[in-house]
Amino acid sequence: MANEGVNSGRRRFLTASTAVVGGVGTLFAAVPFVASWKPSAQAQLAGAPVSEDISKLEPGQRLSTSWRGQPVWIIRRTPDQLQALTGLNDRLRDPDSANPEQQPGYAQNAHRSIKPEYLVLVGICTHLGCAPLFLPQLEAQPFEADWKGGFFCPCHGSKFDMAGRVYAGVPAPTNLKVPPYRFDDEGRITIGLDPEGAA
Ligand code: FES
Repeated sequence: MANEGVNSGRRRFLTASTAVVGGVGTLFAAVPFVASWKPSAQAQLAGAPVSEDISKLEPGQRLSTSWRGQPVWIIRRTPDQLQALTGLNDRLRDPDSANPEQQPGYAQNAHRSIKPEYLVLVGICTHLGCAPLFLPQLEAQPFEADWKGGFFCPCHGSKFDMAGRVYAGVPAPTNLKVPPYRFDDEGRITIGLDPEGAA
């Protein structure tokens, strides 16, 4: 019986130790889980909206930025460049921007933008991902005598107009992509956020 008393005391001690070790183990197991579940500050930053001051952007100029690791261009079009968009439809593959994957609903219009003057595009060719050249002048080019301004991809010769609409008969299958964006005020654009109330 004496032994039994000793044994039961020892058993209580072991039970208590196991509970403590178990508790510490649970704590150590939980910390890495919480840490891996929480997005790192870097990842949050990479996906965050990007705001740009466009108050100094002159007609005909382009501002380059980056959002979610992709190049994004903000272009202020001249009246001539906007006018030229109207006569190109029969040379384009998707003149009405019917493919909903390539722009938000609020940019599915003749100029593919919220305000006609400002064009916002992801600067990646929709063929195999090269960087198209920005050729905004309305003048003859080696690859196109009647050039109305736009983008030319040097990798395989795809051509896009000043709304990022792809020409027919080139390798790129779709128009350049318009990312979500909004105007915060007259002189500032945020890429990665839709306008208030946009679907
Ligand atoms: S990647 Fe642009 S035409 Fe092929």
